[in-house]
Amino acid sequence: MKAIILALGLLMNINPYLNPNHQALFQSTDEELVVYGGTDAGKSFSIADKLLIQAITQSQTKIKALIIRKTFPSLRNTALEILTERAELFQLTYKLNKSEWTAKCGNMKFIFLSLNNKEDFSKLKSMTGVDYVWINEATEIREDDYEECLRRMRGGKAAFNQIIVDFNPIGRTSWVYKRFFDRNIGTARKLRYTIFDNHPDYLKTPEAQRFIERLKRTKKYDPNLFKIYFEGKWGELEGRIYGWDVVPLPKGTSYEIFYGGDFGYSIDPAAVVKIYRKADEFWLQEVIYKTGLTNQALGKEMKDKGITENNVIYFDSAEPKSIQELCNMGLNAKPCRKGADSVRAGIDFIKSKKVHIVDGSTNIDREASSYVWDKDKDGNALNTPVDFNNHLLDAVRYGIDTHCNKGDFGFEV
Ligand SMILES: Nc1ncnc2c1ncn2[C@@H]1O[C@H](COP(=O)(O)OP(=O)(O)O)[C@@H](O)[C@H]1O
Ligand SMILES: [Mg+2]
Repeated sequence: MKAIILALGLLMNINPYLNPNHQALFQSTDEELVVYGGTDAGKSFSIADKLLIQAITQSQTKIKALIIRKTFPSLRNTALEILTERAELFQLTYKLNKSEWTAKCGNMKFIFLSLNNKEDFSKLKSMTGVDYVWINEATEIREDDYEECLRRMRGGKAAFNQIIVDFNPIGRTSWVYKRFFDRNIGTARKLRYTIFDNHPDYLKTPEAQRFIERLKRTKKYDPNLFKIYFEGKWGELEGRIYGWDVVPLPKGTSYEIFYGGDFGYSIDPAAVVKIYRKADEFWLQEVIYKTGLTNQALGKEMKDKGITENNVIYFDSAEPKSIQELCNMGLNAKPCRKGADSVRAGIDFIKSKKVHIVDGSTNIDREASSYVWDKDKDGNALNTPVDFNNHLLDAVRYGIDTHCNKGDFGFEV
């Protein structure tokens, strides 16, 4: 890494920011680079850093980097945001063009592209002279699209060409497993990282330590989640409770709108979901997903997001004091219904409806993808879901079940 700094001349020393545990990632010039493993491993940060390093070290060369994720709102919330933040941290000149969704960083051009519809695919097909491609959360896209990206990487001028994919090893049914780990097509370099490979400065933070403890606890609930997200090994996300699709919110429709919320603070994020209802069909949109919010700060954030006293929002009835605090701020917060077996009953009710995730609600999608029934020590399914990654999903249940389920499922508590 030292060479980079020498080449930088006037630029600041970015070395301390680069993850020293990801040397192999930074140094690889393989045509295909597969970066996978556990959650919070610093994968996305280091890939973004690697691309920015190319902008610095090959500053005399016009370079094109294609940044891809299945849907654009998710791309914007993740790869695009990380690249922008890191470029700013490194004090690089970085200019984002929000009409074209490209960014210039010296002679490097980043092109941000989703792969979700015909228009996206034809855009991809028309790209030429691409030097680098980063496909974030590659399990979301199709193998055909990967092949197309490979074909786009031709005729560039950079020192080397590379396509980088990153993902969590969610299941062997995914094309990424079949291609890179079973059939071993091509000469892909594979790097596996877990949270322990994250930047040492990050690992020193109490947040990281708490997150590690929390991930460890999933072993008890669901060894499979533990395997995928903590150990970064191939698991199987079987028995998912919700199989919702991700769609744009249909326009020109009038909806009934209400909200669901879940309190959180240090490790658990506070979560607020906007729920659009049309008859028996629901669309879920993530509004707040943030740690460190006091109830006052949560209330303010809700108001900033346009929630008023006219919008009913349901929270866990076990937190009357917090609910009252929001009401005192002029919000229409209400306790959810709870009764015997209400979690199961609420989930069953929601499962009987047609439900969609609104495009861009990455965290709802992520939570739903790991939401499975808990098991006892003999492996028998229990009546409750695993208590992990369920903040927005609890908010959805408080909202829909309380607002819409008129069925009687036991006594109120
Ligand atoms: N180079 C770094 N320096 C400091 N913190 C980092 C670095 N890389 C990652 N992190 C921290 O780790 C978190 C998770 O990193 P991320 O790249 O999103 O992980 P992954 O993509 O593996 O899930 C980030 O939000 C950030 O707080
Ligand atoms: Mg990531």
